[in-house]
Amino acid sequence: MPRTAIAAIGTCLPDRVVTNAELTRLMDTSEEWIVQRTGIRERRWVAEGQGNSDLALAASRQALDRAGWKATDVEAIVYATLSTDHMFPGDGCFLNAKLGLPGVPALDVRNQCSGFLYGLSVADAWIRSGQYRRILLVGSEVHSTGLDVTTRGRDVAVIFGDGAGAALLEATDDPARGVLSTHLHADGRFARELWTDAPGSFYHPRLQPRMLEDTSAFPKMEGQKVFKHAITKMPEVVRAALEKNGLTAADLKVLIPHQANLRISEMVQRSLGLRDDQVFNNIQKYGNTTAASIPVCLEEAVRERGVARGDLVALAAFGAGFTWASALLRW
Ligand code: UT7
Repeated sequence: MPRTAIAAIGTCLPDRVVTNAELTRLMDTSEEWIVQRTGIRERRWVAEGQGNSDLALAASRQALDRAGWKATDVEAIVYATLSTDHMFPGDGCFLNAKLGLPGVPALDVRNQCSGFLYGLSVADAWIRSGQYRRILLVGSEVHSTGLDVTTRGRDVAVIFGDGAGAALLEATDDPARGVLSTHLHADGRFARELWTDAPGSFYHPRLQPRMLEDTSAFPKMEGQKVFKHAITKMPEVVRAALEKNGLTAADLKVLIPHQANLRISEMVQRSLGLRDDQVFNNIQKYGNTTAASIPVCLEEAVRERGVARGDLVALAAFGAGFTWASALLRW
């Protein structure tokens, strides 16, 4: 049975850098609060006219160049995001058109911060089953156009940023490379602890003027509850992945935790007993880019930490749903 290897990763972070100082001009917050509570120093926001699928396109093109693939080598697209350009269809179809791939299937995944790992799990199953050999897996978000950037929404607004990461997945027969296992979880009892209530088909009509007034159209988060679950579930799901493969934390070259909060990453690191050089974070520069955070972080880690062929890499995520997930792979 073939395994799934990552042939290349591309990323796209919008040019516009939004510093904490800039946010202090929009809402009652401070550089000190944001850095102490989250580790974030700046994030990127799209320019007007730059959409989610545009970021994904740029990231995909960079990945294709790096792998030496033509767009037409892609046999399927898996696209993870919570912030689609339009209500429907999903951005997988828009990316399909922008890459010039009529007929190539496009699957949209909406599992928020765990979206990239849910997508990886599906793509890995397709590759192992022999259905496809070359898959484009994207995580892309545009949060900035949907945030309440007033003091009312400051707990959420300071955290999130825009960006995209695209991984090209290919079938390999090399037993020393590829995805070893993926582990997916959800607990919908907590669906309303981190969500955007409206617009939604539950409401008649689904879009109402009051939704802006009463802030139900903006993301809401019970921050401390999310935090507590994240620092428990992320180490748990990494341990499960290691145990399943007869490996230990000491075997890891690097862990890429979903970039939700630097304090969460540090607690996950401590819980797993990992050294500083075994965990990579870049939330300081980009904030929380949800489905994009793992591929964007992995791409930088590979370059900056010198991840080499055969090195053991763990990916872990926790977020809205609640959903959480991990993957273990040999680079
Ligand atoms: O990727 C999806 C998953 N998301 C996460 O994993 C996020 C998890 N949660 C967190 O990262 C943290 O809970 C936050 C960073 C969101 C908040 O940090 P916290 O230490 O849990 O703060 P808090 O919510 O307990 O709020 C403490 C205080 C409150 O004021 P009072 O009630 O103590 O007077 C807030 O109103 O901080 C206030 N506050 C702010 N102050 C300045 C909330 N947001 C801000 C802000 N600037 N941006």
